[in-house]
Amino acid sequence: MIQDIEDRDLKKDGELDLSSKKTSTSRKILSTVVLGAITLALLGAKFLPTAVFSGCKSSSNQEIDTQMILEDLCPTAEKLIPEESTQFAGITQFGTPEYKNHSLSVWRDAVRLYTPSFDDLGPVGEDSRWDVFFKFEDYLMKTFPLMAKKSELVHVNTHGLVFILHGKNETLKPMMLTAHQDVVPVPDDTVPRWKHSPFGGYFDGKFLWGRGSSDCRNNLIGIMEAAEALLSEGFKPERSLILGFGFDEECSGEQGAAHINEYLLKRFGEDSIEFLIDEGGLGIQDLYGSRFSLPATGEKGYVDIVINLVTNGGHSSVPPDHTSIGIISDLIQTIETKRYPLRISENNPFYFQLKCEAKSGRTMDPLLRDSIAHLDSSCSAKTRVLEMLDDDINVRYLASTSQAVDIIDGGLKINALPENVTVKINHRVAYDSSTDEVKAKILSKVSVIAEKYNLAVRDFAGKEISGFGHSKISEILPSGYFELHSEQELGPAPITKTLNNKSWDILSGTIRHVFEDFVSYPDADPAVPSDVTVSPSVMTGNTDTKHYWALTKNLYRFTPIRQNARFNAHAIDERVELNAHIDGVAFYYDLLRNVDENDRQN
Ligand SMILES: *[C@@H]1O[C@H](CO)[C@@H](O)[C@H](O)[C@H]1NC(C)=O
Ligand SMILES: *[C@@H]1O[C@H](CO)[C@@H](O)[C@H](O)[C@H]1NC(C)=O
Ligand SMILES: *[C@@H]1O[C@H](CO)[C@@H](O)[C@H](O)[C@H]1NC(C)=O
Ligand SMILES: *[C@@H]1O[C@H](CO)[C@@H](O)[C@H](O)[C@H]1NC(C)=O
Ligand SMILES: [Zn+2]
Repeated sequence: MIQDIEDRDLKKDGELDLSSKKTSTSRKILSTVVLGAITLALLGAKFLPTAVFSGCKSSSNQEIDTQMILEDLCPTAEKLIPEESTQFAGITQFGTPEYKNHSLSVWRDAVRLYTPSFDDLGPVGEDSRWDVFFKFEDYLMKTFPLMAKKSELVHVNTHGLVFILHGKNETLKPMMLTAHQDVVPVPDDTVPRWKHSPFGGYFDGKFLWGRGSSDCRNNLIGIMEAAEALLSEGFKPERSLILGFGFDEECSGEQGAAHINEYLLKRFGEDSIEFLIDEGGLGIQDLYGSRFSLPATGEKGYVDIVINLVTNGGHSSVPPDHTSIGIISDLIQTIETKRYPLRISENNPFYFQLKCEAKSGRTMDPLLRDSIAHLDSSCSAKTRVLEMLDDDINVRYLASTSQAVDIIDGGLKINALPENVTVKINHRVAYDSSTDEVKAKILSKVSVIAEKYNLAVRDFAGKEISGFGHSKISEILPSGYFELHSEQELGPAPITKTLNNKSWDILSGTIRHVFEDFVSYPDADPAVPSDVTVSPSVMTGNTDTKHYWALTKNLYRFTPIRQNARFNAHAIDERVELNAHIDGVAFYYDLLRNVDENDRQN
């Protein structure tokens, strides 16, 4: 494994480092200057180890350097507490038994409205299975009367709901909160396996059970509750607030978010939204003995590769040494033998997560911590970090592209040689990589196998590749040929910048206030201090935000929830703690207030 990284990647990594050299070099220069000053100060005070003269850093200086680098790349967010005022009751109102009762009742009513989206749904208006979304809209309008009355509601592609709460100052870019109205279907045969009905909205005193309680009624209803509470207090924002609720996120958002994006682009233009927060991220987590909040500032890319091997077939009694199934097996083996390289650079939000973990993780091994701090300047530090990541399957794919051979299809009859064998390989494309890199790897492996078995290749562009002793595919039949296609191709999302970024600062400051001062952690390790380090992170899957890239540069995926409070999204026994849902309402409420206070100060 380690060999793998060294062989193929450190060189490549070096090249990638060059592309991002500007910022890291300037930071390095800065820290060298400061380090020099510290060294000079030490000179007068103490005997200086000779090591300093030979260019090695003494361990104490290294320590200072480490701290500086980490604070530089993971600055501590300033906690943002909205001002007390007679107008606003503040987030403590959400902690009362009355409010919890109210919140449970509106959230559970939403869970009882089952709105599945299916992969085979026809167009809206033709397939009647979409009609359940009318009921969901009715429920929203009835449950949140102030939002219904005070905001402009636009229907996009019938069921896409865009609420616009107009701000006082139309010159400010609107902010946008999003969530999806659809849920993952519950297959009939799994219904009896649920402890409590997926459609009943059962509350056991702690958890609300049911499909969608977590993904993502929790977000959608939480946003509506917060907005409704603010409107009941006479809130009129400076900046317009847009709520965008798609209705087919679970089948990739083509009917919902894609249309909402088109509508908003037409109405407001490109880069017209200040920032957007959707579901996702890793909530609040305890890692290395410290508490982190991990909004995602990027999403890995995606591509499915389809490979067909077409041969002439024949009778099974006189087979070649390898049938097309055997050849495809050889190809799969060849592809799986080499994993994608691990790479880490500032181009990947996970780079910043590592820096934050090193900065704040109290129980992190000091050597690892040091290596993370110095991975930009030291080859051995970088290798150590990459090896550590490679050893843990839960983090490996945050720094590398994944490949999963998921579907194989071929052969029809036991006495006939297979004529057309298909394999499909799913990839989640890492930052510092691209779908082109995936296609290049596939083409190169296919070419090796093609040469070995005297086959031709039709590449991703449909081009017939010669070079195996034949100029045209047609001339080399019956040996056969490979055909390559890609599906659902999408590169990694543009990364949202967080350093010196106002919307990130407001998001982080709000998270710190709500999750340090309001939220209780019934199941948390009491040894973990309550301060929250807010860190960028990367998602391995896609949300509706993949449709919103053109609307804003500041895209966040963040479900405001602590760990151990939600279970089994997309699975049997999906459930969320009521108190954790309330935390989310408090988060959205204070976020809107903090944005507004910031706008009024400017
Ligand atoms: C809780 O909410 C339900 C439904 O909204 C209502 O009927 C009930 O009276 C409330 N109970 C309390 C204690 O507020
Ligand atoms: C609206 O916001 C802009 C940008 O912050 C500011 O310059 C302007 O003064 C504001 N207008 C009003 C009426 O507050
Ligand atoms: C081989 O099978 C695939 C998948 O079913 C199909 O798309 C493709 O057209 C077939 N090719 C030939 C030459 O039959
Ligand atoms: C924040 O980041 C975005 C890109 O993600 C950038 O366009 C913007 O200028 C940054 N700075 C501030 C102060 O928001
Ligand atoms: Zn979701």
